[in-house]
Amino acid sequence: MRYLVTGGAGFIGSNFIRFLFNKYGDDAQVVNLDKLTYAGIRENLAEYEGKPNYRFLEGDIANPADVTEAYRGVDGNGTDVVVNFAAETHVDRSLMEAGTFIQTDVHGVLVLLEEARRHAPKLRRFVQISTDEVYGSIDDGSFSEGDPLNPRNPYSASKAGGDRMAYAYGQTYGLPVIVTRASNNFGPYQYPEKLIPLFVTNAMDDLPLPLYGDGKNVRDWLFVDDHCAAIDFLIEYGTNSETYNIGGGNERENREITYRILELLKKPESLIKPVGDRQGHDRRYSLDTRKLERLGFKCDTDFDAALERTVRWYVENEPWWRAIKERSAEFRAYYEKQYANR
Ligand code: NAD
Ligand code: DAU
Repeated sequence: MRYLVTGGAGFIGSNFIRFLFNKYGDDAQVVNLDKLTYAGIRENLAEYEGKPNYRFLEGDIANPADVTEAYRGVDGNGTDVVVNFAAETHVDRSLMEAGTFIQTDVHGVLVLLEEARRHAPKLRRFVQISTDEVYGSIDDGSFSEGDPLNPRNPYSASKAGGDRMAYAYGQTYGLPVIVTRASNNFGPYQYPEKLIPLFVTNAMDDLPLPLYGDGKNVRDWLFVDDHCAAIDFLIEYGTNSETYNIGGGNERENREITYRILELLKKPESLIKPVGDRQGHDRRYSLDTRKLERLGFKCDTDFDAALERTVRWYVENEPWWRAIKERSAEFRAYYEKQYANR
């Protein structure tokens, strides 16, 4: 299978490419198109550089010339499957500046879809990686795929635009589009601006853990390996024009996650620093995942074991995150702006 994976230098994308090579070996050919924004780290997949079935292409999904080149494949032989992970992904950053979110998460998707039209009917799948955030917040019950979208922050509004644009191209032009909406991922290689890697690495350095609001917001945590396996399953067994929720079934309040991290690292709860809430902070995300289960896929990773494994990964891979937190001027400027006066 010839894959075009966009955003493959980021957290989920790099885990997905590793998943493909582990599962399919030389039978998988992968082009990784990534702009290398602050969140893109090419070295995440250093072990595949130079292999004949892997090609890294630095480029922008919103740039038609980059996208045309990427669809050519590893050696000009074309693409069977596109999986679009490329996005601006951090809610807090979208509250500082939303323009890049529109440019990548909406317009970039359009550019990828326009190129897909030129490759139909040979293209087998176009998977648009969306998010549970497009439904908005829910106090009771869970969202199903047919529920109305109600994004409540600039990031999720942009993702909803890309989500529906992909669906619309499937309907209008008959492209083989599948949309997936996953819940909060965690695992190795997650950029340390997000809750779990930020709190683990801060705790390791005895720095405060800035817990927003009352700490009772609920997220459904999905181990990244389960997410990768679900996407791979849907490429094989999903139905075109359908949307699939992918949830971990592990709803936890942020404060519970925080206590658990401190416990695993044997650090005191006094490191928790309650800070001002995120503007428009969604209270709870929850997904009904029965559609995916009916198709035959269920996430089966034990949450506590996966969290422990994740914490251990950050403990054992200090150089990876210290390069970001200590040597990236961009990260330090962001951290200062986001947390200094909170
Ligand atoms: P990430 O921020 O770790 O990585 C994003 C990657 O996209 C980076 O490598 C970045 O360089 C690249 N990128 C950004 N703009 C680009 C552009 N214009 N052209 C090419 N590459 C570009 O993100 P992530 O957490 O791995 O998320 C991946 C996808 O999954 C996103 O679409 C996100 O919306 C979605 N998602 C994430 C989660 C989660 O919990 N992390 C949950 C559900 C859905
Ligand atoms: O639900 C899926 C989404 O999950 C993805 O679409 C996004 O790309 C991804 O970033 C994530 O969004 P969240 O906003 O839920 O993730 P984040 O890790 O930023 O925050 C998780 C929760 O923790 C949220 O309720 C806010 C809170 N939080 C976060 C940070 C960074 C804190 O309390 N303190 C913090 O410093």
